[in-house]
Amino acid sequence: MADRLDVRSPRLRLTRRHVSALLLGGLAAAGCATMPSKRHLSQRPPDRVVSLPQPQPLGVLSLTEALARRQSVREFELTTPTTPQIGQLLWAAQGITRSSGGRTAPSAGALYPLEVYAVTRGTLWHYLPDGHRAEQWDAPATLAAELGDAAVGQDAVSSAPLLVVITGVVDRTYAKYRGRAAQFVTLEAGHCAQNVLLAAVALGLGAVPVGALSDEAVRRRLGLTDALTPYYLVPVGTPRAAGE
Ligand SMILES: Cc1cc2nc3c(=O)[nH]c(=O)nc-3n(C[C@H](O)[C@H](O)[C@H](O)COP(=O)(O)O)c2cc1C
Repeated sequence: MADRLDVRSPRLRLTRRHVSALLLGGLAAAGCATMPSKRHLSQRPPDRVVSLPQPQPLGVLSLTEALARRQSVREFELTTPTTPQIGQLLWAAQGITRSSGGRTAPSAGALYPLEVYAVTRGTLWHYLPDGHRAEQWDAPATLAAELGDAAVGQDAVSSAPLLVVITGVVDRTYAKYRGRAAQFVTLEAGHCAQNVLLAAVALGLGAVPVGALSDEAVRRRLGLTDALTPYYLVPVGTPRAAGE
């Protein structure tokens, strides 16, 4: 039983050995050359690359408390989260946690198709898990407002002091998993987003996962190529105090 997997059709029952052989065959047929290089993610090179502060153990909240306190927050104070907080959120999204290259979020076949961006006033960030760094571009102060337009005019997006943008390169997963790839990468975006939401709570911040967006409009505003699929915009900030 433990050695048998159901693959899509209940009538198609394959052993793990069969699945491995099929996957390896698929990988060989696809060829690793189909994997887009990093340089094909953005339409222009970054203005700079910065090191991020090392992630710190987060406060005193237990995981149970963080789960219990998580709720969607759509109204924020004007203050922008600090660079250590942004670094902590990006690490929660896709940080490398072990020498094998494993990350905070699981990934089908450890192929890591996700690419995480952040938008603060005047800056676009692209997280580089390797070395816990970020590429940065100077960006118009109106970028969050433009992304709000790309998300059916949602105020939570246009007014957010920080947006975490979760995108993925489906081709990276397609080379191995073919017809399941789009589903796998979407699932991974969910894992990643939940990490960000819980890390925000642990930092005393609030956030909401926004999935109502136009892929093309988000790509255009962020200068991303078609290799990337945007899944979520996650506005993050200090929750606005009641009555303000
Ligand atoms: C796939 C998905 C897409 C979502 N898209 C949006 C969105 O576009 N705008 C928004 O304000 N909230 C969005 N949400 C947040 C939900 O509205 C929210 O999780 C739900 O109302 C439950 O409330 P809670 O998060 O406070 O528990 C989305 C949630 C999920 C899981």
